[in-house]
Parts: sequence; structure tokens; C-alpha cells
Amino acid sequence: MRRSSYFSMLNTILTKGTHVSSKGPETVISGRQDEMILTAANETEQLDPRTDATVTDRKVRLDPMELGPLHVQTPVILSPMAGVTNWPFRVICEEYGPDGLYVAEMITARALVAGNPKALRLCRFAPTEKIRSLQLYGVNPSIMEQAARIVVDNNMADHVDLNFGCPVPKVTRRGGGSALPWKTDLFQDVVSRVVGVCQEANIPVTAKIRVGIDHEHETFHEAGKIAQEEGCAAVTLHARTTAEYYGGHSDWTRIGELVEQLSIPVFGNGDIWGADDALAMVEQTGCAGVAIGRGCQGRPWIFADIKHAFAGEDERVRPDLGEVCSVMLRHAQLMCEFYDGDERQAVHDMRKHVAWYVKGFPVGGSVRRAFMECESLDDMRKVVDTLDLSATLSERVVDKPRGRVRFARKVHLPYGWLESRTTTHDERETLFGDDPMDASY
Ligand SMILES: Cc1cc2nc3c(=O)[nH]c(=O)nc-3n(C[C@H](O)[C@H](O)[C@H](O)COP(=O)(O)O)c2cc1C
Repeated sequence: MRRSSYFSMLNTILTKGTHVSSKGPETVISGRQDEMILTAANETEQLDPRTDATVTDRKVRLDPMELGPLHVQTPVILSPMAGVTNWPFRVICEEYGPDGLYVAEMITARALVAGNPKALRLCRFAPTEKIRSLQLYGVNPSIMEQAARIVVDNNMADHVDLNFGCPVPKVTRRGGGSALPWKTDLFQDVVSRVVGVCQEANIPVTAKIRVGIDHEHETFHEAGKIAQEEGCAAVTLHARTTAEYYGGHSDWTRIGELVEQLSIPVFGNGDIWGADDALAMVEQTGCAGVAIGRGCQGRPWIFADIKHAFAGEDERVRPDLGEVCSVMLRHAQLMCEFYDGDERQAVHDMRKHVAWYVKGFPVGGSVRRAFMECESLDDMRKVVDTLDLSATLSERVVDKPRGRVRFARKVHLPYGWLESRTTTHDERETLFGDDPMDASY
């Protein structure tokens, strides 16, 4: 069954109605049960995580890209990931990778405007970072404009990306992230105000979007068009809908459609787990660049593999556990700097990274637990000392999906959101009363 027809079918069995939560009324498009979606997914291999992108032309190349005044030698993006792509991780990825864009995790515009210390910490860059890329998230055009003004006036970034892809309920129920492009007037307003401010400082703005809310409510064609008209330098398409969340496949044919439609560069995003996937995406879609998300979790050397691949070389990095632990400990050390010397906080924040780093190595449950109980760098070193550092990565997991791979349980939207493609005065009033200060993925 073709994926789109599967979703049409799914949509007919989706319940659409009004639901009153403690946060007020909201329109909910919901599969009745998570299980129901997963059961249906088993009926077609198209909905399994992508494991087999094939590349037929190993000579496929990416041309350097000019994004405003920025020269991007190899248009490969470290896709922004909340809780992941802070400067320590970006530094490590950039050391392996080509001269691309390594984007910070999303900064909530309202938090930046309020001078929230947590948000300000996320805006920091290491001196070695060649292009300082920040991502802003927000729903309120005025707050987004103010946030952009802060970035420009304080020379905080060289490139600004806008988040229109976040699928989490906390964000979409406020009309933010991937829900926002549905309201074309609001989307246009946000983009044009941020571009207007950034243009003064010659800072290129890009937009990161999804295919839509679901396949009945796709938004990427209009969003791409508006982004281009309003002066965005490029668009990144994560080729899933909000409802698809991180489940199934990123549908690369949609990336190809957007490439056909737009004259500005399109970055393709979704399901690049190894260098061959990056080649295959460019070959299949004609996209001008690629964005890597979960594929680099615990595998920052994927950027080295991608660099080799686009240079036509077969060399791939396959570190043993000892090399991985060195990277992990260095990462932890940089995290201590990120947290201004607070080792405990750094080591706690490293837990998810540690789980990703050791995935696929013969590291048992007791060792994993020991890592999770670490309170200091020394504790981490002691656990590393107990490992067989010559162990190699199981071929079973090399370049394979990891991290979040689930479908959404429900898509939460503001009340009445889907009734029209533009916002009413009342909708704007309701929305902009209290943006979440601390949206996260
Ligand atoms: C843990 C996590 C955090 C994320 N945070 C952000 C974010 O802050 N901003 C954003 O635009 N996308 C965010 N994303 C989406 C990724 O940038 C990317 O679009 C998505 O994971 C699909 O790419 P992939 O298949 O290569 O992972 C996040 C994804 C994950 C898994």
C-alpha cells in the first residue's frame, strides 16, 4: 500500500473533535490508541524505519552554497536538536565534519527576550565554531522580531534558522512548531519580521519545516513558497508530518517536490543514518544539502563519513570502544565547561549521550547502570576503565536507525485551528497571551 493512501485510510478512522484539557479547549486529531497506529504500521514495510536507502551513483556531489554572505563549503547541517546540539557536541561534530552548518538547539524567543539564563546559555558558541548558527522558536511575530533584534544587536549569530518543525504537543497546542505553517498569515508574519531584522545585518535566515500536520493538512508547498518570497536563504524539509512524529520513513519524494518548486536551496532531512543515506538522498531528490539529526547521536564521526562520501572516497570511520570512550570523555569535559564547571550537572546531562555512544558495543546492563550513576568525570573514567576497549561496533547497528522512532499518539492543536488557513483576531489574542517559556522536545 502506498504510504499516502495508508494515511488517507488512517485519516478516515481518526477521530476529530473537541476535547477540554486542563490547559483549555483544543482540537485533537487522534488515533484512538497508539497501538492502533503501530499495528497498522506493521502492515506495510514502508512504515518501518528506513534501513535500506540505496545509492546507485557514488559520484554524487554537493556544490558549495552561498547563504547570503556565508560560504558553506559542503552544505551539510547538524540538525538542531534540543538537549543535544549545544556547543560541546557541535564542536565535536564540526571537528569530524565538512565545513557545513552546525545549528544550536532551538531557543524560545520569549525566553531570549526575557533574558532567561538557560536560554542565554544555549546561545553560547565555542571560539572554534566557524559559522554561528542559532535557531529561534516562537509563535508571536512581535516576540520573534524582538528576539531577532537581540541576536542582531548583540552580534550573537551568523545565521538564524526558524523552527517550524517541532511536533511535540506542548508546542503545537500553542500553534507553534509544525502547527504554525497551517496559518499562512502568521507564518508569513513571523518569517518576514525576522528576515527584516536580520537583513539589516546581512544575516541569512532559513526555515525548517515538516510536510504538514498530517497528509490531509499538508503545508510544505505554501510554507516553502512563502519562505522564499519573504527572503529566506534556504529551507530545510523534514519529510514527515506532525502526526508521523519520528515514526516510519521520512518521505524523500516530498523533498524532491520542494526542490522542483523552489529556486532557493532545499536541505533534505530525515533518516540519514550513514553516509550512503546522504548520497542516496541527494541522488534521489536533487536537494542542495542534507541535514543530519538522530544519525549523529553517539556517532559524531558520521560527519567524517559524509565528508568522505561527498569527496568520492570510500573511507569510513569505525572506531573501537576505546576511541569512542575518548570522544565521550572529551565530550563530558566540554560539557563541564558548558555548565561553568558544574561537573555533576554536566555528567547528568551526558547520560543520554553515554547511552548513544555505547549502543551497539558489548556493554552490559550493569555497566550502563554504573554510567547512569556517575556524579563526576572521575566516576565516568572509572567505569570506562572496566571496559574491554578493543571491542568493536556490531555490524547490526552500523548506520541503522536509533533514537526516537515513534509515531505521535495525538496531534494537539489550538481550538479550531484547522477551520481556516488564516488566524482570526481572537485566535491571535488567545495564542499570544502566554507563549511557553520553556518549550523543549
Ligand atoms: C531529541 C531531538 C531534539 C530535537 N530538537 C529540535 C530542535 O530543537 N529544533 C528543530 O528544528 N528540530 C529538532 N529536532 C528534529 C531534528 O532536527 C530533525 O529534523 C529530525 O530528527 C529528523 O531528522 P533525522 O531523521 O536525521 O533525525 C529534534 C529531534 C530530536 C530527536
